[in-house]
Amino acid sequence: MSPLSALWAALRVYAAGAAVILEQLLRRCRGGFPEPVFAPQPDRVAIVMGGTDGIGYSTARHLARLGMHVIIAGNNDSKAEEAVRELKEETLNVKVEFLYCDLASMASIWQFVQKFKMKKIPLHVLVNNAGVMMVPQRKTRDGFEEHFGLNYLGHFLLTNLLLDTLRESGSPGHNARVVTVSSATHYVAELNMDDLQSSACYSPHGAYAQSKRALVLFTYHLQGLLAAAGSHVTANVVDPGVVDTDLYRHLFWGTRLMKKLLGWLLFKTPDEGAQTSVYAAVTPELEGVGGRYLYNETEIRSLPITYDQKLQQQLWSKSCEMTGILDVTLRYPASG
Ligand SMILES: NC(=O)c1ccc[n+]([C@@H]2O[C@H](COP(=O)([O-])OP(=O)(O)OC[C@H]3O[C@@H](n4cnc5c(N)ncnc54)[C@H](OP(=O)(O)O)[C@@H]3O)[C@@H](O)[C@H]2O)c1
Repeated sequence: MSPLSALWAALRVYAAGAAVILEQLLRRCRGGFPEPVFAPQPDRVAIVMGGTDGIGYSTARHLARLGMHVIIAGNNDSKAEEAVRELKEETLNVKVEFLYCDLASMASIWQFVQKFKMKKIPLHVLVNNAGVMMVPQRKTRDGFEEHFGLNYLGHFLLTNLLLDTLRESGSPGHNARVVTVSSATHYVAELNMDDLQSSACYSPHGAYAQSKRALVLFTYHLQGLLAAAGSHVTANVVDPGVVDTDLYRHLFWGTRLMKKLLGWLLFKTPDEGAQTSVYAAVTPELEGVGGRYLYNETEIRSLPITYDQKLQQQLWSKSCEMTGILDVTLRYPASG
C-alpha cells in the first residue's frame, strides 16, 4: 500500500464512521435504541472474549442478568478481577468468572481452551468480541500484524479450538451460537491476500478495516461448514455501530476530542452497542439461523464481495496455515 492509498484508507474509514454516526443520530431522534427483553437463559454457558471493558463488558453483564454462566476472557488480570466483582454484585449471578487469554498469543489461546475444557462444562455461546483499533504498527507474539493477528486470527484460532465443545453443546432447537463482532469499516476495507500482514505499507486504518472484513468472510465460511456438517451450531456476525468506548484511544486527537465533547449524542453507549451481540446470542428469532450480518438487531447485507465463497475458502485455508491448525473440513466432514 502506497502512502497515498494509506491516506485513502483513512478517509474511507472516517467516511464509513460518519455515515453510521449520522444514521445513529437520526435514529436517536426517532426514539433511540430501546433495550430488547429476552427470556432467562439458565443452564447456558457463554464465553465473552474481551469482556472486561466496553461492548464486551456490557454484553457479559446482559448475559449474566439472564442467568447465564458467563466466562469473561481477556489479558488483564487486575481489570478482570474488578469486572467480575462488579458483574457479580450488579447481576447477583455468582456464575461469572474470568479466564486469562491473550488473543495476541497463540500459545495463550491454546492454554485458555485447555483450561476451559478442563472445567468439563458445555459452551452454548462464544462471543468473539475483543479487538484493538488503529494501533501503531506492531506484531503479536507470533509475528503477525496486530490487527490481523489479534482481531482476526486470534478469534479464528479460538473458535476452531472450541468447535468440538460447541458442537457437543448444541442440540436441535437449541443451537450453540458463535457471535463475531465486526464493524461497518468492513465495507470500505481492502483485503490484500498477497499482503495480509500489511508489510508493504502500513495503514492503521486499512489494517483495522481489513481485520473486520476478514471476520465477516470467516463467519460466512464457518456457517457454511457447520451447516454442511449438520452441526447444531450457528455463526453470525454483528456490527455494533459507533460506540463510546476506549477503542478510540489510538485515534487522531481531533477525533478523540469530538468523542469527548459529543460522544453522548453521536455515539451509542456501550449498553446500546452490546444489544445486537446479546440479540445474536439469545434471541429465539435466530434459532437455527446463521450466516447473517446483524446491525441494530436486524439482518442487513454486508459488502457483496464477502459473499464470495471462493474468497472465503481462500482466506480460510490461509488462516489454517497461519495458525497451524488442521482445516475443520477435514476434522468434520460434511454429513451424508
Ligand atoms: N467502539 C466502536 O465504535 C466499535 C465499532 C465497531 C466495532 N467495534 C468492535 O467491538 C469490539 C469491542 O470493542 P470496544 O469498542 O468495546 O473496545 P474496548 O472498550 O477497547 O474493548 C476491547 C476489549 O478487547 C480486549 N482486548 C484487547 N486486546 C486483547 C488481547 N490481546 N487479548 C484479549 N483481550 C483483548 C480489551 O481488554 P483490555 O481492556 O484489558 O485491553 C477489552 O476488553 C471490537 O472488536 C471492536 O472492533 C467497536
